[in-house]
Parts: sequence; C-alpha cells; structure tokens
Amino acid sequence: MTKFSKFLCSAAALSVMPVLAQAACDGGERVIKFSHVTAVAGHPKGEMVAALAERFDEQFDGTMCMEVFANSTLFSDDKVLEALMLGDVQLAAPDVGKFDAYTQKLQVFNLPFLFDSTEAVQAFTETEQGEEILMSMEGSGIIGLGWIFNGMRQFSANRPLVEPRDAAGLKFRATTSEVTEAMIAALDATPQALAFAEVYGALQTGVVDGQENTWSNIYTGKFYEVQDGVTETNHQFLTYLIVTSPEFLDSLGDDHEAFTTLVDEVSAEYNARANAANEAARQAIIDNGGTVRELTDEQRAAWVEVMKPVWKRFEADIGTEVIEVASGGAD
Ligand code: LMR
Repeated sequence: MTKFSKFLCSAAALSVMPVLAQAACDGGERVIKFSHVTAVAGHPKGEMVAALAERFDEQFDGTMCMEVFANSTLFSDDKVLEALMLGDVQLAAPDVGKFDAYTQKLQVFNLPFLFDSTEAVQAFTETEQGEEILMSMEGSGIIGLGWIFNGMRQFSANRPLVEPRDAAGLKFRATTSEVTEAMIAALDATPQALAFAEVYGALQTGVVDGQENTWSNIYTGKFYEVQDGVTETNHQFLTYLIVTSPEFLDSLGDDHEAFTTLVDEVSAEYNARANAANEAARQAIIDNGGTVRELTDEQRAAWVEVMKPVWKRFEADIGTEVIEVASGGAD
C-alpha cells in the first residue's frame, strides 16, 4: 500500500469521526495549515487538498509541511477567512458563496441555472473576468490562488420535491450566500443559514426540512439518510476558491512560484475527476437506500422559471458584462 493510499484509507475512516490533523509534520519544518469543512475520501475538495498536502510535503521536504484540517475540525467557513487574515491558517478553500462579506463578484457562480457543467465553469474561470475575481479581495487581505470544482447542487427535503411548489412553506438550510437565500425565498420557502457541520443534525432534528448540495456532499455528509429523497434539480454549480494571504505568499520568497505551480497542477488534476466523484456519490446514495428523483424537462423548466428572477436582483452587484461572459456570451 502506498503512503497516499494509506492516507486515503485512514482519511475514509476519519471522515465519519472528528479528526484533528490529517497529515503529520515531523517537527522542525515550518507548518502550513489548510482548513476546510468537508470529508476527504470520495470528495472532490477533500481529495484534492489531501493530494496537495502530500505533494507539498515531498516538494518542500524538510523545510515546510502542510497540515490539513478537514471536516470543520479547525474552523467553519464563517470563521476561516478571519483566521486566514490573522495568520492562524495559511490556506482555505470555501465555497464561493461564503465570500459575500468581502466581495459581490463571486456571486456570479451561484446564480441559479447559470452554469450547467464543470466545463462551463472552467471556461468562465479562464476568461479575463474570471481571472480578475482571484484578486478582487486583495484589499481585504485575501488572495485567490485558483479554483476547485465540485459539481451541481440538488435539492432535498423531508417530503417529495417534484414541482417548485412542493418546496413552498418548508425551511431549507442555506449557506451564507445572499443569492442562495434569494433562490430559496423564490420557492416561497424559508432560508436558514447554518454552517455545513450543522446540516445533518438540523435535518435529523427537524430544525430545517431540507437542504441543497452536491451529490458528493449529500453522500459524504449522509444527508440522504434523513431526507425523503434528493431531487435532481442541478440548479447551481459548487465551486471553491482556494485562498491565502499576501503575507503568506510573501513569506515564501523564492518558493512562491513553485508553490503556486503546484496548486495549479493538483487542482487541474482533481478538477478533471470531479464529475466522476459526484457520479459515484449519486450511485452510492441509491445503493445505500436513498431516493433520487429525476425531473422531466418540463418539470425542470418550472424550477428554472421560478428562480430566474433572482438574477435581476444581483445584476448590479455582479455586473451585466460578467453575467454575460459567464453565460457563455461575449469575452
Ligand atoms: C456548504 O456549506 O454547503 C458547502 O459549501 C460545503 C463545502 O465546502 O462543500
């Protein structure tokens, strides 16, 4: 068994229990902390970050090592950006919906039914407008290094969701994204902002009736166990922004370029596997007794229709040109 597969096996076991750090530093090296909120095994972000840590340790052997804190064991997404600015962690990769306090630019990723595939998101991140977003929070002490792709988000609830009106009156867990809150409100439902670590408990105890997330999050978080079923709405694409601080980048000195090249390489490799990870998670939900509801074209069109007005509300903050480019229009 290789060192990496051993790591993934232990990570798989650890993903269902609290875990402090996933990669051990031997002592003596400079420790770089990467904090995130999801599982490791079977998760596009968890596996990418684990691989980054492994290769970082090889590349900077003896001088620096990376400790990964997965499953919200160090900071929730609400706290991690503050921690980054204080130097308590050096790296994080929150969902783009978690940056509203620092920039409105990232909201474009969350507009419902704008992106419909990994390829569409990737194409946007490679445009001038997409690249500009990486540095849009520099004034707040946050630098974007690159992107991690997860997949399309799906709605689930404690009763079957087929038509948008089935969601009316229910309470759904929301991220802190204003776009997501508006999207849920457009269903005549109530958004309740909760940290990712709280979602399973909130669904189980009825604090909320439903949630929306990707197949890999719904599977690794076991949300399907405490829901009636998951409806394949494919309403948003979950993208993560890998962030660091200018102080950390400056402190790397001559290693700066080698580090950013490594991040680019590992994220490209794992982004190419994100679709397969989500497909596997979708199948695993079914294999474990969860219900997956597919929508007809007509049923899905009704969800698009109800949520489309959300775009108008955020157009001024995001910028019409950015929305046009993201929609596959002009560059
Ligand atoms: C969520 O809070 O729903 C997700 O952003 C969690 C994650 O990092 O995938």
